[in-house]
Amino acid sequence: MIQISKHIQLKHIQNSDFESLFKLMKEIYSYTYSHFWKDKGDWYINSQYSKENLLKDLSEKKSDYYFIIYKTEIVGNFRIIWDEKLKGCTKENQVKLHRVYLNPKTHRKGIGKKLISWLEKKALEKGYQIIWLDVMDAQPQAYKFYKKLGYKYFSHELLTYNLLYNKVRKMSQFYKLLNN
Ligand SMILES: CC(C)(COP(=O)(O)OP(=O)(O)OC[C@H]1O[C@@H](n2cnc3c(N)ncnc32)[C@H](O)[C@@H]1OP(=O)(O)O)[C@@H](O)C(=O)NCCC(=O)NCCS
Repeated sequence: MIQISKHIQLKHIQNSDFESLFKLMKEIYSYTYSHFWKDKGDWYINSQYSKENLLKDLSEKKSDYYFIIYKTEIVGNFRIIWDEKLKGCTKENQVKLHRVYLNPKTHRKGIGKKLISWLEKKALEKGYQIIWLDVMDAQPQAYKFYKKLGYKYFSHELLTYNLLYNKVRKMSQFYKLLNN
């Protein structure tokens, strides 16, 4: 267990956590992103959070995958991929923030900010120079969150999933340099 602040902890996700992770993400993802999808996001959740995919995610040696615990309750997930390169970026020592999802009932309490600030400190200590992530442009909450924390636009792509509505296909890559 990693203590981030008085009320926030990170707990490593294990292979056996498949069902609780799936249930958690079905609730969180659906609430935030179901309107992006023609099937309300069922296909995406079922594939991203399938048992098979969780085992694959957990088997990646260079990643850390956590449940976020607020007070005593699991309220989200947080995944980091160390040494993951952002296409077109020549900086050495890059970290990707792959996932940060919080239950809506815990939004706007400063939890996301504390997690990112913990990651930035950790990454800096380990000698990383840059953190980057993907963010959907049509998700203003996340977009504004990263902007507020000093992340900047680097590039974007249009996702090609058939079930995604055209107007929400744009996904941007944001980054932050850690040594200034
Ligand atoms: C995006 C997310 C991680 C932010 O976490 P959070 O704990 O709610 O954010 P914080 O309370 O730490 O907010 C920090 C700052 O970000 C900005 N911000 C956060 N949510 C915002 C919103 N809904 N609208 C505008 N600004 C927002 C604010 O400036 C805020 O500071 P303030 O509250 O002092 O004004 C969280 O909302 C979430 O999990 N959303 C759903 C999943 C998701 O989209 N994840 C990102 C995938 S890339």
